[in-house]
Amino acid sequence: PFILAIAGGGSTYTPGIVKSLMVRLADFPLAEIRLYDIDEARQNTIAPVVEKVIRDHSQSIKFTVTTCPETAFSGAHFVFAQMRVGQYKMREQDEKIPLRHGVVGQETCGPGGLAYGLRTILPMAELIDLVERYASPKAWIVNYSNPAAIVAEGIRRLRPNARVLNICDMPVAAMRNMGAILGVDRHKLDVDYFGLNHFGWFTQVRVDGEDKMPELRRHVAKFGLLTEDAAQTDPQHADPSWVKTWRNIQPMMDCFPEYLPNPYLQYYLMPNQIVEHQNPDYTRANEVMDGREKKLFAAAVEYQKTGILPDAFHVGVHGAFIVDVACSLAFDLRQRHLVIVENQGAIANLPDDAMVEVPAYITANGPEPVRMGKVPLFHQTLLMQQLASEQLLVEATLEGSYEKALQAFTLNRTVPTMAHAKAILDEMIAANRDYWPEL
Ligand code: G6P
Ligand code: MN
Repeated sequence: PFILAIAGGGSTYTPGIVKSLMVRLADFPLAEIRLYDIDEARQNTIAPVVEKVIRDHSQSIKFTVTTCPETAFSGAHFVFAQMRVGQYKMREQDEKIPLRHGVVGQETCGPGGLAYGLRTILPMAELIDLVERYASPKAWIVNYSNPAAIVAEGIRRLRPNARVLNICDMPVAAMRNMGAILGVDRHKLDVDYFGLNHFGWFTQVRVDGEDKMPELRRHVAKFGLLTEDAAQTDPQHADPSWVKTWRNIQPMMDCFPEYLPNPYLQYYLMPNQIVEHQNPDYTRANEVMDGREKKLFAAAVEYQKTGILPDAFHVGVHGAFIVDVACSLAFDLRQRHLVIVENQGAIANLPDDAMVEVPAYITANGPEPVRMGKVPLFHQTLLMQQLASEQLLVEATLEGSYEKALQAFTLNRTVPTMAHAKAILDEMIAANRDYWPEL
């Protein structure tokens, strides 16, 4: 049985991940779960909920809650990482500062994502070092930390040999919806996909060898990438703002006559429509703080008082996916999943060193990417611009370069002019003074 540490233990995602682990104990046996966080108070609030989830399934799994890296990682076989540097207060800034300039305000896309990247790259490298110091030498870090594209590039530059697999639940959430549309379980789908994280396309969707793309596209053109029962299977991505996000795929379809775009492309391809419908005083960070966060914290208090745990956290693809990936790493299952890897030819007409999102077979030694071939000129061009923006952002972080940060902001498709880029960057420098390296 494995020792698993969750870095970012105080996240409101933790109970859902642990629930997913509990229903898969036969496939992924656990001796111990350790929660690790630098925010002790927050983690201590979440921990009793997590303990209850464990005890409902197992009396024997050891449960440890700590802020000490040595206690957290000593001898660990797996680390699930989900750090949010600056927490939701800083996500709020990432979203609101660009909106004040009429630019998309989003957690991982546009200036918000770049700002979040500047906060996260160096702490991520520190976390990797702590894990490498204490954990089992063959330990894997399965990393959900956002902004995943930039974090992956930062890790590639700073810790190229680390055993880290960067993942995102967006493609798999889209596949869950595709399965619902087609009336099959998402595990039955065999897909091809290429792109960068939060910036890519499904090119093929097969069920038992049969091409389902035409049927899917017909549904998406009418209803978006969505079915009515989405709320039951994945409550997080069924919030009203997520429903809007899944629907917004519709207007992009004409641009991509054969593929299905990742919903996140809407921020780059139709930024004006997005900004028009964003409230600069109340963004997604506010929704999450007032919704998901409050609900779970209230439930934790209620549970402490009454011993009854209200239904207050999300169990869905997010947790199921990281457990799938960990199983495949642990037992060399060679399952095919969409993950973030160094390109090395997987997308023939993108640079070898780009961190791309493609299907890969997950072995005990890591991912073996599938070759997606050459991508069309239009997609390649969009990808190259986004890649340049993200790589320049990483260089800005490592070199403390204001010029490169400004270039990264200017190249981002959500940002209309260099003047916008500069105004937003300068406000963000002030807002992030406790977190960013000096530029
Ligand atoms: C998806 C993405 C994550 C992102 C999340 C935001 O799951 O893959 O990268 O963090 O959505 O969701 P939220 O409910 O916090 O807005
Ligand atoms: Mn993601």
